[in-house]
Amino acid sequence: MSGCTIKVRTEMTVDDSILQRQSRKVLGKLPGDIADASDPHFDRVFAEVQATLGVAGMAPFHYPASDVLGGTAKEPWRCVLIHRTGCEQLHEHMYACACDGDGPADGPRAGKMFSLLNAAEALVLVYAAVEPTDGTIDESKRAQRNMEHMLATGAFVQNILLGLTKRNLYNYWSSGGILQSEQAATLMQKPENSVLAAAVFVNSPHNADQLTVKPGSWRKDRSEFAEWTTVKRAFD
Ligand SMILES: Cc1cc2nc3c(=O)[nH]c(=O)nc-3n(C[C@H](O)[C@H](O)[C@H](O)COP(=O)(O)O)c2cc1C
Repeated sequence: MSGCTIKVRTEMTVDDSILQRQSRKVLGKLPGDIADASDPHFDRVFAEVQATLGVAGMAPFHYPASDVLGGTAKEPWRCVLIHRTGCEQLHEHMYACACDGDGPADGPRAGKMFSLLNAAEALVLVYAAVEPTDGTIDESKRAQRNMEHMLATGAFVQNILLGLTKRNLYNYWSSGGILQSEQAATLMQKPENSVLAAAVFVNSPHNADQLTVKPGSWRKDRSEFAEWTTVKRAFD
């Protein structure tokens, strides 16, 4: 199943990448549904995702967040990049939490998350800054900053999706389900003043196409530009 090289689609324009991006939820029944995590294929996927993040990080942001998130980076996001090996361990950890009755088991959603982790070849968890409520800024400023931290993080996540599409890697932006839990946050060492904005699942087509691949729920409901744009050449 593994061993294919990853082809970067150099001929792809930005427009192509935007149009070809689509959510692909790749679900595995068992951790062994794809090759052993030690397969070098997963190192290649990991390297491609790393390269994607390096480029995606040029997304725009307005308010610096190093004071909020810690560290020196001013960007209002932080992410954790997880290799296939880590996805398997994360699956085991979350499953153990759920079985202990200690976990955030929430029925079908948790089930789906386990299936995604079974199949994931890499995973990026993206955390957005949330301004603390310690009274250093007033509430309206805080709300404005939080909105802009989240918007900037959304732009960063979309850059990741486009970069992965260009690299011919399947991708899916999930809200995270059980990965929003305290147990997952502890494992990830989530920054204190942050919230999980996205869990981006990454798969290569040659593995994914042998598993169950589901589209985004709203894929078939996309509308035309004119339906969400008011065009004004000039005002009367
Ligand atoms: C902020 C955000 C959170 C999302 N969370 C989920 C999710 O938790 N579960 C899910 O099935 N899809 C999730 N999606 C994917 C959307 O369902 C998907 O983008 C939509 O159905 C359109 O499909 P497309 O991405 O193929 O165009 C999320 C998308 C965004 C932007």
